[in-house]
Amino acid sequence: MTVVRALGPNWAEPLARAEALAFDRPWGPGAYAEELARPFARALGAFDGTRLAGAVCLWVLTPDAEILRIFTVPAARRRGIGRTLLAAARAEARRAGCRRVLLEVGAQNAPALACYRAAGFVQVGLRRGYYAGGADDAVQMALDLVGAAGEGGPRRGPPGVL
Ligand SMILES: CC(C)(COP(=O)(O)OP(=O)(O)OC[C@H]1O[C@@H](n2cnc3c(N)ncnc32)[C@H](O)[C@@H]1OP(=O)(O)O)[C@@H](O)C(=O)NCCC(=O)NCCS
Repeated sequence: MTVVRALGPNWAEPLARAEALAFDRPWGPGAYAEELARPFARALGAFDGTRLAGAVCLWVLTPDAEILRIFTVPAARRRGIGRTLLAAARAEARRAGCRRVLLEVGAQNAPALACYRAAGFVQVGLRRGYYAGGADDAVQMALDLVGAAGEGGPRRGPPGVL
């Protein structure tokens, strides 16, 4: 079973180690340490037992939250961890009173695009030639937390209650 937990600054090194498996250009421990020290940054880790199988980093700057980084280690992909992390990020954003979750993704990153679309994100813009020295476009996506009926509606109840 996958469990999602908030990760504090002491997780910078394990996060960087796991991320290095998932990205060609990982952030590295220094960048994670800097990131995790920001008051508006959140990092959520997905654990298979004690193993860190994936993580999402976001900024919560109400009224918007922004996902900066999300990954699942290659050995654990297509088991719903990305979906679980996106749901946890969305819940974190809603708890903070955010109205939208934003992100950018390379237009050629088919798995990530599919994962975001499956979670309800829609394209809201395109930055041509933004990545890979101009070779890839950035697709700007958003998930509306207040517009949709049902689970996308405004936060009700006290903080911590989804
Ligand atoms: C994108 C990423 C986080 C997805 O993680 P994951 O744990 O494998 O995703 P999930 O298993 O939760 O998949 C959820 C849904 O996304 C879609 N999806 C995920 N990977 C896919 C793939 N390779 N091809 C097609 N659809 C895919 C599917 O709709 C999937 O649902 P399904 O398995 O029921 O069909 C993972 O591929 C990854 O770490 N990639 C490298 C890092 C990266 O590119 N991060 C994003 C940067 S913007």
